[in-house]
Amino acid sequence: MSSIKPLIAGNWKMNKTRDDAVSFVEQLAQSASDLANSTQVLIFPAFVHLDACLSALDAGHIGIGAQNCSHEPDGAFTGEISIAMLKDLGISHVLIGHSERRHVMGETLDLIKEKTHAALQAGLHTVLCIGETIEQREAGDTDAVNDAQLTTALDGLPTDLMANLTVAYEPVWAIGTGKTATPDDAQQAHAFIRERLAELSDDATAQNTRILYGGSVKPGNAPELFGMPDVDGGLVGGASLELESFMGIIRAGAKTDALPS
Ligand code: PGA
Repeated sequence: MSSIKPLIAGNWKMNKTRDDAVSFVEQLAQSASDLANSTQVLIFPAFVHLDACLSALDAGHIGIGAQNCSHEPDGAFTGEISIAMLKDLGISHVLIGHSERRHVMGETLDLIKEKTHAALQAGLHTVLCIGETIEQREAGDTDAVNDAQLTTALDGLPTDLMANLTVAYEPVWAIGTGKTATPDDAQQAHAFIRERLAELSDDATAQNTRILYGGSVKPGNAPELFGMPDVDGGLVGGASLELESFMGIIRAGAKTDALPS
């Protein structure tokens, strides 16, 4: 973990009813209150629960973000949600380019670029997800894939807008599979991403940009992963659905300063 305050984000995907979502964030706000100084916590609920989760938290220390957004400002785009609609609710964060959006919903590099630019230009904190498939890793293309996904999304973006960017490195083969990248594999990919960020902006911006690891993060593997010098927190799917396991990961993030890096 670098000197940046760690960020632990829960991606709930298409899970939880409204009541479950609201009671979870209420309990989370209580359980994590004494860790607010040492770690930042975010939840990405389904769109339909954003308003209820925000109201339940009442400007507390837990952030609420959307799992996706449209790159178009408004108009005839049935089923889409605009950035202005999210901002109108008071949403501060958005997830862009999650592997399920890329590989299940077919979002292209260019579409993800448009979304990333639109979200950052509108002042939303943007968590851009990148990562290779198992075939790409086995072919030795991990760095090339991460480079292409990062470079395309950030192409032409003014450096000052990168202040609101977080990158989540999520190897596709580790998402929801129980297989996690080793801490060394994660560190290698994160160091490469930080190097590329410096080339795309400048050293200071790259050092201040959080790079999260995602893919089967659990309370048991989080301390070692978060102990790596370029891992600034985690994007957590399955283990963020239960309070106990998510709190275990948040505690691991808060304690990372004590671990050797
Ligand atoms: P997982 O999901 O923790 O269940 O592997 C991570 C993600 O999809 O962001």
